[in-house]
Amino acid sequence: MTIHSEAGQNEAPSGERVPQIYRGWYAALTTDELKGKALRAVRIYDREFVVYRGPSGRAVALVDRCPHRNVPLSLGKLSKCGELECKYHGWTFAEDGRLTSVPGRVTPCEKANAISVPTHEDKGLVWIWPSPDAPPSVGPTLPPCHGEPGYTTVVRRVSAPASLYRTAENALDVPHTSVLHRGLFRSGERQRVTVTVRRSGQSAEAEYSGERPPRGLLSRVLGAGAKERELGVAVQHWDRFILPATVQVEYRLGSSTHFIVTAYCLPRDAEHTELLAVATFRTPLPGRLVAAVLFPVARFVFEQDRRILGAQSLALRGSAPEYHSSELDALGQEIWRLLLRAARREKEGSPEAAPLGREETIVQTFELLA
Ligand code: FES
Ligand SMILES: [Fe+2]
Repeated sequence: MTIHSEAGQNEAPSGERVPQIYRGWYAALTTDELKGKALRAVRIYDREFVVYRGPSGRAVALVDRCPHRNVPLSLGKLSKCGELECKYHGWTFAEDGRLTSVPGRVTPCEKANAISVPTHEDKGLVWIWPSPDAPPSVGPTLPPCHGEPGYTTVVRRVSAPASLYRTAENALDVPHTSVLHRGLFRSGERQRVTVTVRRSGQSAEAEYSGERPPRGLLSRVLGAGAKERELGVAVQHWDRFILPATVQVEYRLGSSTHFIVTAYCLPRDAEHTELLAVATFRTPLPGRLVAAVLFPVARFVFEQDRRILGAQSLALRGSAPEYHSSELDALGQEIWRLLLRAARREKEGSPEAAPLGREETIVQTFELLA
């Protein structure tokens, strides 16, 4: 049993100290959400951005604050030529943030520009790099298998009343699935499973091997029709956390069933996290049919998680959390370590892509209620 208390940077209302990382890609919107002249307000911790489709066709993100009197630019509108017009006095800005006109004035103030930050758009998603002073040197983590033949992709947005750390740990925590979600993922049978934890400077992964195909409702839908289920082939299962805020769960059952959900967390503040979940899967049954059955159940599962995270946040209010962990909490401490060290390095001014530590592999074997 190990204990870790949280000592980091900014303190949340719960008393938890939350490491905040700004030098990283955050998936904030889908391409569909930037249709037409839509202006979207996006918050990442205490930084707010207005995101829209610029006249060049690219996704634009500006700090959501007019340089004139600091009114949110997201309250404004896009002009006919695609310039962003502030709602208060009508100053207009080009997609690089340059001030282009001040109504009633012949020459604009040269230095009163809005601040732009980098964006990246791919696979139907829009990422923001919320740090204008430190440009990205690497691309974002893309959702694997998206768009590949035979795969179906479904994107859903949900929100959790918890910090990024607690939300990410919940998404990757195996032991609670046979208790909180009893019967939905796992049946609760005892079996021996080998867990291999791999850690690097940017990510942590837990690989579960030797696990029989789970017998819960969700698992049965995904594995329906798979010959391997009857043959008793072991399921392959990986859970991953990738900086700054990506969680990924991947299952393979033989050659026929492959399910991978990549959930991009967007920490809105120290106590609220949105998740943009991209589920991509290939099963023996038609993808649309599986999605129609699977996603109402997945919504129910997430509602159970949302409630328990809310109760946890309430319990932590005003106190500094102390977590007692066992080897079953395979990734929780790894996520905390990654967040804390990345935030420290950012504060020290180190490049975001610099390795935070050497690669390590830890192999554990334990009994799992699966
Ligand atoms: S506050 Fe934006 S133009 Fe005045
Ligand atoms: Fe859960």
